[in-house]
Amino acid sequence: MKKFINARIKGQEGLSQILVEHGKIMAVGEKLPPAEEKIDLKGKLVCAPYVDPHLHLDYVFTADMGEKNGSGTLFEGIQRWSESKGNTSVEEMKERIRRGIKKEMLQGVQAIRTHIDVTDPTFTGLKAALEVKSELKDLLDLQIVAFPQEGMYAYQGGAQLVEEALKMGADCVGAIPHYELAREFGEKSIHTTVELAMKYDRLIDVHCDETDDSMSRFLELLNALVLMEGIGSKTAASHTCSFGSADNSYAFRMMKLLKKSGINFISCPTENIYLQGRQDTYPKRRGLTRVKELNDQGINVCFAQDSMSDPWYPLGNGNMMMILDHGIHIAQMMSPEEIRNALDLVTVNGAKTMNLADYGVEVGKSANFIVLDAESEFEAVCERAQVLASVRKGEILFRREPAVVTEATDFLK
Ligand code: FE2
Repeated sequence: MKKFINARIKGQEGLSQILVEHGKIMAVGEKLPPAEEKIDLKGKLVCAPYVDPHLHLDYVFTADMGEKNGSGTLFEGIQRWSESKGNTSVEEMKERIRRGIKKEMLQGVQAIRTHIDVTDPTFTGLKAALEVKSELKDLLDLQIVAFPQEGMYAYQGGAQLVEEALKMGADCVGAIPHYELAREFGEKSIHTTVELAMKYDRLIDVHCDETDDSMSRFLELLNALVLMEGIGSKTAASHTCSFGSADNSYAFRMMKLLKKSGINFISCPTENIYLQGRQDTYPKRRGLTRVKELNDQGINVCFAQDSMSDPWYPLGNGNMMMILDHGIHIAQMMSPEEIRNALDLVTVNGAKTMNLADYGVEVGKSANFIVLDAESEFEAVCERAQVLASVRKGEILFRREPAVVTEATDFLK
């Protein structure tokens, strides 16, 4: 039995204690019975671990692998990856995947959904991701999307490769309808996605309408199909940039239908503000979906990193607080209430999208949480607080000292 004391649990008043046995939270309260081991969290903010629901782990640190993405667009990114993806091996891929995960975990992430390119008959990325998932099963919730980066139909045999990837153990069906060669093929890929999810009982995560084209409306079909099948809560629409460019009267009607299905949204703020609006002069679009409006409607939205130094995006370090900071700026979400709830966008909302059942600082759940260098939600967001500790099943994954000033003039002391 061990006890974490002086925890300021997000959403709760005052200081709490957390009693842990066999990796589970046994009790949370002001004053709990003594335990053999006591860990002082010194009044810092405690919340459920960061979740990154959209990350291309097979691409991490490949920005320098081939020709550069000169236009900075999504479509050239796909072309550059396609040219260089054959020059790798399962071992090389595993080494990069581990490095990417380590970067995220050292910043408090304990759950990642990764979109692995399966338009590759050798399944190099999928094999690597499945092996790393099994290696790290006690440390990290890793979900794998069978993602046809070059299309289910634009790539010869793409749909069959997605199905094969599900048989090999991928957790989610992916698609990229806006990249298919014609609208009809994009729609066909959405039908196939839902059929495969039903056949293999898997989750869905579609790269959906990642374009400024306001007429790219694959979200409408995806939402309708999962609504009819009753699997909206098991479905995520990633990016949906075009929904940010759509006409208001169209969006108004869609909002009601999106709420009805229970579909989840994943927005990648740093990535999409960088990739989108490339054909605009001025005014230049922000490229994000309607994060604020979806959230106001009670539709589940979360933020994700998407890339770490790959042909689409040269930066990215797995720091979800940085993603959150960009996201609430770009989406204009800074009312007192929005700031108070901002952490949800990189924690509980992501967990809901991933359908994680064992998540939250609550009795009966695994003792998984992070400690932020802040004493309130506002301070955490305003100061972009560092993660001081990450605890998994009651064990400390890492702990770091808060940053200290070592020398200062009198005024700055
Ligand atoms: Fe992506």
